[in-house]
Amino acid sequence: MKFYALRGATTVTKNDRDEILLRTTELIRQLLNENSLDCKDIVSIIFTATKDIDAVYPAVAARKMGMTSVPLMCCQEMDVKGSLPMCIRVMMHIQLEEERVLSPVYLEKAVVLRPDIAKLTIAIDGPAGAGKSTVARLLAKRMGILYLDTGAMYRAMALKVLKQGGDPAKPEDVIPLLADTDIQVQHGNGDQTIMLDGRDVTSEIRANSVSNAASDVATIPEVRIKLVELQRGIAEQVSLVMDGRDIGTHVMPDAALKVFLTAAPEERARRRWKELKQKGNLNIDFDTILNEIIKRDENDSKRTYAPLKKADDAVLIDTTQKSIEQVVDEIESLLKN
Ligand code: DC
Repeated sequence: MKFYALRGATTVTKNDRDEILLRTTELIRQLLNENSLDCKDIVSIIFTATKDIDAVYPAVAARKMGMTSVPLMCCQEMDVKGSLPMCIRVMMHIQLEEERVLSPVYLEKAVVLRPDIAKLTIAIDGPAGAGKSTVARLLAKRMGILYLDTGAMYRAMALKVLKQGGDPAKPEDVIPLLADTDIQVQHGNGDQTIMLDGRDVTSEIRANSVSNAASDVATIPEVRIKLVELQRGIAEQVSLVMDGRDIGTHVMPDAALKVFLTAAPEERARRRWKELKQKGNLNIDFDTILNEIIKRDENDSKRTYAPLKKADDAVLIDTTQKSIEQVVDEIESLLKN
């Protein structure tokens, strides 16, 4: 015989007997169905509930499902500061004749406990320099999921147009190139590599000239349709944090959490100016950067197709006075609460 321990978790919205039994029943049923298990395969089940749940023992749900002779035990989960509230966890012990791979099940808000198993999508939007990419990258790292920087795709397209001598603001220069452009995003070691027609352009697309050109090509609907298809394809496969301008409103309208990051234009320009100086661009003038930021804001938010806009259900965070760590902590606590 083979012996297994199978994990799962779910959450309730209130300390209510009916809801606790309903969610626990759903969880057990899904654990059994997804793993083709039968009640007779279960040796025992341990349930834990966070301290805000005490209206009923979750084990009552298992008894009501007919598990009259399976040993069940309910305990209170450790009350760790900042942990997910209103959560019911299970640990099922299983005995099977044959060897099998069993899949854990995480439902409702408990998906945040194991975003690597349950699918979790987080959308981060906002204007240039609001801190999106730094925050999204760190958040994804902490959660052990993928980070997808969609701006890099628009930058790659812009680079292609510039290399061909075209004007990134002119649809007639950009659209004919689309069919013949291959943009791929590769992930490894927590970093994203952007391939344009088979060539690594990860560093090249960060040039200031490409930033402005990217904002121009991004106003062309045909470009957006191609790149959004690529972005949605990746989001269908894995849990991820995706950042851009239209992620919460257009690319992933069903994202589990939507955040809109913003900061005063002067602060955003200061961040960009500092970054460019650190990269060795010593002659860069602050006012030029500020004007470029303001122009890009206007370009991104005034375009007719999928403009930069806060989704109605996105949480607004102003990063002007906040450190990266503070913003990431805030987003993590939004996910839990
Ligand atoms: O985030 P970034 O600076 O790398 O983005 C470059 C440009 O691409 C930006 O001016 C707006 C555009 N963009 C967009 O329109 N939609 C996205 N999802 C991402 C970026």
